[in-house]
Amino acid sequence: MSRKSLYDLYQMKAKGEKIAWLTLYDYPSAQFGQAAGLDMILVGDSLGMCVYGYNGTAAVTMEQCLGHAEAVRRGAPDVYLVGDLPFLSYQTSEAEAVYNAGMFLKKADADAVKLEGGVRVANRVKAISEAGIAVCGHIGLTPQSSGQLGGHKAQGRTAEAAKLILEDAWAIEKAGAKLLLVEAVPPEVTEAIHRTLSIPVLGIGGGGACDGQVLILSDIIGQFQAFTPKFVKKYANVAEIITKAIAEYVRDVKDGQFPAAEHTYGMLPGEAEKFRQMIP
Ligand code: KIV
Repeated sequence: MSRKSLYDLYQMKAKGEKIAWLTLYDYPSAQFGQAAGLDMILVGDSLGMCVYGYNGTAAVTMEQCLGHAEAVRRGAPDVYLVGDLPFLSYQTSEAEAVYNAGMFLKKADADAVKLEGGVRVANRVKAISEAGIAVCGHIGLTPQSSGQLGGHKAQGRTAEAAKLILEDAWAIEKAGAKLLLVEAVPPEVTEAIHRTLSIPVLGIGGGGACDGQVLILSDIIGQFQAFTPKFVKKYANVAEIITKAIAEYVRDVKDGQFPAAEHTYGMLPGEAEKFRQMIP
């Protein structure tokens, strides 16, 4: 199989074939994701909460995102990979935004980068796009500015707020973004964005009226336990499975049930007897 390209994603949109996208952070998950048929993977700054145990995404660094993106690319060589620009990696200047975006391509062989914001980051989207890098915009609920938004809350629930989000979408497409993610908005807003844009529109918590969906692996397999957003559908409870396995291991060690003979190495033929004679 060859790597999924932006062209393939546009073809899927044209045919009405939904794009399946997931945030994940490590090599084994990436292998599972590719084997399961994901079209896209995001190495999201949500890794701050799901991997590092931070309260939010603000503390996440470029180094962390790049390290995880490199591991994910090794596990999923054929999936369209998006690197998430963390807080302060693109806000400070156009030059820094272009440099950091480029690092995802250089170090992790990513296909695109994602950054949060609408009208106010359109110039950054333009600068990164003009450097030849595919950009995915991210509007609606933008977790890096959750302090300004009053927390992790749904956005665009009044007509006036919805219109501003629509204007964000138009600005991001006009600035050259190739993809757009819309988070936690009413379905009417997603539908209006999808209808008035020509680039693929992906949703998380925005209903189904768009070209595809993204969720976070740690949420859908029940691994991240601090909170579960309303829009998450859970497909497994690995926290329970892992905790049970560890508890059984602890019990086996304490009871002397582990290790059993099959978990040990035998000496080579005749060597055990020789060894016994060497022991005082
Ligand atoms: O960081 C992340 O995982 C995200 C999701 C909300 C898609 O941006």
